[in-house]
Amino acid sequence: MINRLQQLEKDALAEINSAVTEEHFLNIKTKYLGRKGLLTGLLRNIAQVPDDEKPMFGKLCNELKNALTVKIDEAVQQYARRNKEELLAKQKIDVTLPGSSIKCGRVHPVLQIRREICSFFSSFGFSIVEGPEIELDYYNFEALNIPKDHPARDMQDTFWTEDGNLLRTHTSCMQIRAMQRMKPPMRLIAPGRVFRYEATDASHENTFYQMEGLMIDRNISVSNLIHFMKTLLREIFKRDVKIRLRPGYFPFVEPGFELDINCLICGGSGCPVCKQSGWVELLPCGLVHPNVLKNVGIDPSEFTGFAFGLGLNRLVMMRYGIDDIRHFLSGDVRFVEQF
Ligand code: FA5
Repeated sequence: MINRLQQLEKDALAEINSAVTEEHFLNIKTKYLGRKGLLTGLLRNIAQVPDDEKPMFGKLCNELKNALTVKIDEAVQQYARRNKEELLAKQKIDVTLPGSSIKCGRVHPVLQIRREICSFFSSFGFSIVEGPEIELDYYNFEALNIPKDHPARDMQDTFWTEDGNLLRTHTSCMQIRAMQRMKPPMRLIAPGRVFRYEATDASHENTFYQMEGLMIDRNISVSNLIHFMKTLLREIFKRDVKIRLRPGYFPFVEPGFELDINCLICGGSGCPVCKQSGWVELLPCGLVHPNVLKNVGIDPSEFTGFAFGLGLNRLVMMRYGIDDIRHFLSGDVRFVEQF
């Protein structure tokens, strides 16, 4: 029996020395020291040991049990330590390496310019108003002196909803909503997204941004309008830009004007943006038509006003020399990263 005990010790030590995973060590522990383990089995057979050797055999068994327990536990700890060191070595961070760059969004140039113009007009006491993108026929057309079947409705191709409403074709509808809510004198701007059912090209989108401006007071005249437009353009371009004012027809203003800017893409020599004309329509405007004032309960014999509808996308195109309006909605980050 003593011989078997010595053989068992040899076998156990050999197995411990060749084990490489934590699982191996635990299996060895169970194999030799578990309730049904080999050493426990030897102890159970103590009856086969001669009586005078029994105390010695029992003592040797216990010593071996303790020794193997210590050996296995140490081996497990050593294994865990080694594992941790290897892991740490692999995870070493080189703080001198450049970090990975994080792509972040930018403020879209149309929003940038919108903020600038809002702040410009705010400094002159204009309030900023907003309105719904899905509009009633009344606000988009009728109250603006464009009754049903009026040919001017064809000037702006419209997306209609099934229930007879529409996606606003311009920001002028917000003039009416504001004039219904406020009392003159008033001055406001109304920026927003507008929609037109039309084919796109270098200067036309079906979804773009405008900013409406409205000033109603006593004795407002065309010279007030021109003064504001010129000051605004100087503020945006930080220099005097060449403009031209020509008569324009809009049923909600009288007189009406088209304010065009000399094309800053080609310098006026002609390109796809200005349709080879050298000029870009940017800022239609005029004095509010008396019918519009009457529609919202303002007495046109007491109050007059000016209104304008600035095309924000085209303004950005002129400022940065962008040669195609379709870049704005392309969703290409390389485009917005430039601003
Ligand atoms: C209007 O929308 C009028 N509501 C403007 C107005 C307001 C006139 C107040 C008088 C008084 P128009 O359709 O021309 O007008 O559009 C105004 C501006 O929006 C244009 O000068 C142009 O800069 C821009 N614009 C018009 N159509 C498009 C388009 N398809 N894509 C990009 N910009 C456009």
